[in-house]
Amino acid sequence: MATRSALINVMQKASTAASRGMLRDFGETENLQVSRKGPADFVSRADTNAERVIKAELHKARPDWGFLMEESGETAGADSDAPVWIVDPLDGTTNFLHGIPQFAISIAVMDKGVITAGSVFDPIRNELFYAERGQGAYLNERRLRVSGRRHMSESLFGTGIPFLGRGTEDDHKQFIHELSNVMPRCAGIRRYGAAALDMAWVAAGRLDGFWEHGLQIWDIAAGFLLVREAGGFVSDFASRDKALETGDVVTANPTLHAELLRALRS
Ligand code: IPD
Ligand code: CA
Ligand code: CA
Ligand code: CA
Repeated sequence: MATRSALINVMQKASTAASRGMLRDFGETENLQVSRKGPADFVSRADTNAERVIKAELHKARPDWGFLMEESGETAGADSDAPVWIVDPLDGTTNFLHGIPQFAISIAVMDKGVITAGSVFDPIRNELFYAERGQGAYLNERRLRVSGRRHMSESLFGTGIPFLGRGTEDDHKQFIHELSNVMPRCAGIRRYGAAALDMAWVAAGRLDGFWEHGLQIWDIAAGFLLVREAGGFVSDFASRDKALETGDVVTANPTLHAELLRALRS
């Protein structure tokens, strides 16, 4: 049974507080004040309200720390060495706006360039995935371990499909190429639409692996630590430890990671 640290309690409290308004707004079709940041890149009242609530809660608990948040950008901490909260207040906005119950709140701590804590909260299922560096990954009170599947033929992968305004024409062709390589070798591919939760599900062994190009650090910082602490591998498509820098993520259990990479690049 896990005893949650004070830091994880802060992250949980911020996530729960933000989820209340989010759940009230979920299923609304009017008054969500939807606008576009790109051709198919939406932001709504649910995103901005959640971000405001999370920021206030985190700031109250750690007044000196900085922020890097999807909707409001970057705020420096009290000094340049202070840790930074990396926050995606609503991962899965497109799902949310369509009434699809697959979205999450992602919060991570980066200290001197290293992710030291992360949480992904799924308010629909009331599932809090969390990890601290060197302390393992948990779902509610249960210790997490990536899946033990050894062959792609029995494995289920998650991915993210590019969409209008996301990636170039060449990126879209590259994705189709990857799909056509992985598809015939595995037991199934899912596109759930919330990358932070996809990675949490890899940590939990629900998915055996996941890949997506062009993510942002707030999509993946918490998921990255969850997978690593659950014993999984995370890299970019060249197998380098550069997923956080590049936003290109390939993650799987240790046995499947190399095989997935090979399939993606073949
Ligand atoms: C998006 C989701 C989605 C992924 C997109 C992200 P948002 O985040 O994680 O699964 O495919 O690339 O932008 O905008 O809903 O927070
Ligand atoms: Ca967004
Ligand atoms: Ca996101
Ligand atoms: Ca978001």
